Amino acid sequence: MGFPGTGTIWMNGTLVPWKDATIHIASHVIHYGTGVFEGARCYATPRGSACFRLDAHMRRLQHSATIYRMAYPLDLDGWIAAVLETIRANGLKACYIRPLLYRGYETLGVNPLSNPVDAAIVVWEWGAYLGAEALEQGVDVKISTWARMAPNTLPAMAKCTANYANSALVKVEAVADGYAEGLVLDVSGHVSEGSGQNVFVVRDGTLYTPPLGSSILAGITRDCIITLARGLGLTVAETVLPRESLYIADELFFVGTEAEVTPIRSIDRIVIGSGRRGPVTEALQGAFFDVINGKVPDTHGWLTYVYPAEDALRTPIETAAGTSR
Ligand SMILES: Cc1ncc(COP(=O)(O)O)c(C=O)c1O
Repeated sequence: MGFPGTGTIWMNGTLVPWKDATIHIASHVIHYGTGVFEGARCYATPRGSACFRLDAHMRRLQHSATIYRMAYPLDLDGWIAAVLETIRANGLKACYIRPLLYRGYETLGVNPLSNPVDAAIVVWEWGAYLGAEALEQGVDVKISTWARMAPNTLPAMAKCTANYANSALVKVEAVADGYAEGLVLDVSGHVSEGSGQNVFVVRDGTLYTPPLGSSILAGITRDCIITLARGLGLTVAETVLPRESLYIADELFFVGTEAEVTPIRSIDRIVIGSGRRGPVTEALQGAFFDVINGKVPDTHGWLTYVYPAEDALRTPIETAAGTSR
């Protein structure tokens, strides 16, 4: 999916025309992967455009920056305001949101500290990542021959650009071998996550997902699914999962900002369950889409409405729960 190439990009507090939003080739991030970023979404709900869990995404950006000792003079409210300003400036109803903090241009050498920490926020229209059909039919996945980063190498909880070199190896191998996605094991051989998604296993009515210690990103969609599943009365266990638990699962699905809730219909060509979306996946997908499509009241306060003028469309409960800055 190509960029539209229009609109404006937020760079260190200034809205810059898309074509002018460039950085120098000698910027540190290009050579050494010294960037941390987020990927969030704004949905066009019947009650107005709303960013999904924007506060959680910007908090994770701050945490990633803390881990990499990248100080930037914006607090959480400042980040949220900057994202909303950028969406409004572009007049978008629904979009993908990509905030990025990176080591910029000053010197080149492994030590990043003499380079500035620069920031950007890019927003653009983007559809379903693995395809709309995948949401119902599911996708074919292989266990990657690559492992996820070992603990104490590249910190998996930091959403650092460097981690995505590993994700790219996983994705490219999967696609080259005829699969939609790769699922990665950690260095102990336990289930970790997809190239850009967390994973859930359904077995005998219980939901299982790997814990933070299995080299995963602490996914915000993962957190939502755990909350929604418990709300539906399901038991959820965050536990170390052996590889073979995937092959004998009743249902498997990926979750993430891009993948949303995508069923996995086969792993290594072993068909999972009925070979399409199973009932638990469907129930959770429905509960998730009901929130993001504004079909149910936002009781968790997950939506941040973008355009205050649309406040009149919302009930008092939603106006109180969703921030309308
Ligand atoms: C490696 C990885 N794991 C999991 C996720 C899912 O996280 P989230 O639900 O916060 O988008 C992502 C997406 O950002 C990711 O890149």
